[in-house]
Amino acid sequence: MYFWKVLGTTTEDNQVLIKYEQQEVIVQVITEEIVRLFVPCWMKEYESVAIEGEPAVPCDFDVIEQQGQVQIKTPAVILTLGDDFKFVFTDKYGDEILSSYDGDRKKYEALSEEDLGLVESEGHQMAFMQKEHVVQQLFKLNSEDRFYGMGDKTGFLNKRGYAYQNWNSDIPQIHHENMPALYKSIPFVIGKGPGYTYGLFFDNTFHSYMDMGKESSEYFFYGADGGNFDMYFISGEKIPDVIEHYTYLTGRAPLPQLWTLGYHQCRWGYDSAADIRDVAMKMRQHQIPCESVQYDIDYMDGYRVFTWNEEEYGKKGELISELEEKGFKAICIIDPGVKEDKGYFMYDQGIKNGYFAKDKDGNVYVNTVWPGKSVFPDFGREEVRQWWANNHLKLTDMGVKGIWNDMNEPASFNGPLPNDVQFSINDRLTTHEEVHNVYGHFMSMATYEGMAEITGKRPLVITRACYAGTQKYAAVWTGDNQSVWSHLQMLIPQICNLGMSGFTIAGTDIGGFGGDTNPELLVRWVQAATFCTFYRNHCAKGQLMQEPWQFGEKVLDIYRKYVELHYRFLPYIYDLLFESQITGLPVMRPLVLHYEDDENTFNLNNEFLVGENMLVAPIVEQGVTKRLVYLPAGNWINYWTKERITGNKHIIVDAPLDIMPIFIKEGSIIPMYEDVQYVGEKKYDKLKLLVAGDCAWGSHYQDNGEDFEYMDGQYNLYSFTYENGQLDTDMLHEGYEKYNSIEVELL
Ligand code: GLC
Repeated sequence: MYFWKVLGTTTEDNQVLIKYEQQEVIVQVITEEIVRLFVPCWMKEYESVAIEGEPAVPCDFDVIEQQGQVQIKTPAVILTLGDDFKFVFTDKYGDEILSSYDGDRKKYEALSEEDLGLVESEGHQMAFMQKEHVVQQLFKLNSEDRFYGMGDKTGFLNKRGYAYQNWNSDIPQIHHENMPALYKSIPFVIGKGPGYTYGLFFDNTFHSYMDMGKESSEYFFYGADGGNFDMYFISGEKIPDVIEHYTYLTGRAPLPQLWTLGYHQCRWGYDSAADIRDVAMKMRQHQIPCESVQYDIDYMDGYRVFTWNEEEYGKKGELISELEEKGFKAICIIDPGVKEDKGYFMYDQGIKNGYFAKDKDGNVYVNTVWPGKSVFPDFGREEVRQWWANNHLKLTDMGVKGIWNDMNEPASFNGPLPNDVQFSINDRLTTHEEVHNVYGHFMSMATYEGMAEITGKRPLVITRACYAGTQKYAAVWTGDNQSVWSHLQMLIPQICNLGMSGFTIAGTDIGGFGGDTNPELLVRWVQAATFCTFYRNHCAKGQLMQEPWQFGEKVLDIYRKYVELHYRFLPYIYDLLFESQITGLPVMRPLVLHYEDDENTFNLNNEFLVGENMLVAPIVEQGVTKRLVYLPAGNWINYWTKERITGNKHIIVDAPLDIMPIFIKEGSIIPMYEDVQYVGEKKYDKLKLLVAGDCAWGSHYQDNGEDFEYMDGQYNLYSFTYENGQLDTDMLHEGYEKYNSIEVELL
């Protein structure tokens, strides 16, 4: 990108157009806090996939041109742009937050052909090959800068020192700490340094690169193989403000149905109705609360989407209604690849109507996935999404309640899809290179819209691949992890970073998907996931069975204890999801989100908060039965021992196999429900309030947990105050049937 000198500016509505000798730059004031810095080096009329509608609101700002510099001042941010696209963002007091880095990239030592051959001959892979990108911007890096967010990237909470890529990738191999990319592309990062906090969202769906200080300690950089430089600078006093502003832009996860937050059991390998029935019955027999035994690919006829394998799974709808009577809801997997098979309705319809992606010569593009040779719907087009959405009727007619979208990177077994495969975004024909990272997004959108329209309920869509903004349509899981301790450890930073990137409904496969789990790992995993908003045990064919009863009574009892705990805390989790509609904040939060000036939280990878009032410190190491816990400022009460501890210090806590340390913040009230085997087993007409301390406050949200009536005011919002042994209840909103009783339990 070349710019040279600033020639002049023109301002229209929220936009300032800055003419450079070589380039045009558009600064758009979206809100007082969000300023978009847009270099249309590819396409000026670009319509975002992540941001729907027009986010810009009328705001006051000044444009000052002086000595070859342009200054754009909103009440919260000042952007100064100079020659050669040098820029500085400062806060309203003029203190610098972020600026361009004006030097060149530091060159890596290049290996000679001979050395490269030598290194590779032992099987080493060159993890990093330095490359200049067509879109590239360097930013000044301060020694204390830290980075959070960035979606599902591997490694630790703080992304400083790592280099990542955004290219949705199906990775069945072990997910290492320094893996460049996994299934999701969320090019959003929260930057944090002494006295400043900001967010950067790079809205570009091409293969992109974010090096957060690995290449150099002087700069971090963003690069992309195509598209525009389209950066949203998001200011905020604190991390929660930045998340609120980012989710204002890209959207927030809608309130889910209450049951979807319950426990789910799955295995790729429940090959028949008998298998599914058996697992469901054992769930009830062993009294492990459970909402679904999920249908992985084998339920389909030859892996043809929207069909049913009657030979193995019985007559359409029969098993589903049989299990529904016992409280099980059917959730089915749907992959994007449509089997190339004349006579199969999906294939025939798609071919007839031209719904599948084509190669560069205009022939329908074929690759291989589970069904064998398969073709790929062009989900970026509205009519293709509508067609896909309508097909869900075939499943809902059988009683299916939720959809699990997988393989939508899109994954392919016969080599990657070439970049020039033709796809569309709305009516614009483009290529795989631009669409790859939003393929899962468009598929989730189609599924969400279909399920919402057909069922009238809040859809449960779970997706593996996504882009920024997909949180409006789908919950996510972190894909094919493995039964190893490092993957359990990664659960905390990964779910916290996904949460800070807008994905409030997320989970990992409990027990690990690939590889064989073991009793201790399984127990510690179900514990650590207790507060995940997607709570599912899942594993692959051919691995050791890992249902809760596979490892004897002791494991079963502990497993049950934590699934029950998850259900008891459901109203607290649901309250946080209600709050998330307004703030965009996740349920599982790293401590740094609320204690960002406390340096003990900066790199804290093995504990997390649930909302603001609960702190959880799981055991994520083999053989450990005691651990160090950092309690931040305030008084905390140990949920198990009831001990009151003043924070701002580290403590050592006992954690035998059946204990995952949990602390409740003094002064808070946590709503709880009674035990059930599944949501809907009995009416939740009793609320229990866990009161922490002599003087406490809390709020609680209640609705029918199913449909969209809450949007018309059919919900209750309670405010509770507990003082002098007395509970006072205030109704902040009344629009739904209230509880029969509200009980207090003092902690
Ligand atoms: C992929 C999914 C996994 C699923 C399997 C079979 O590996 O990530 O969850 O079980 O495909 O459908």
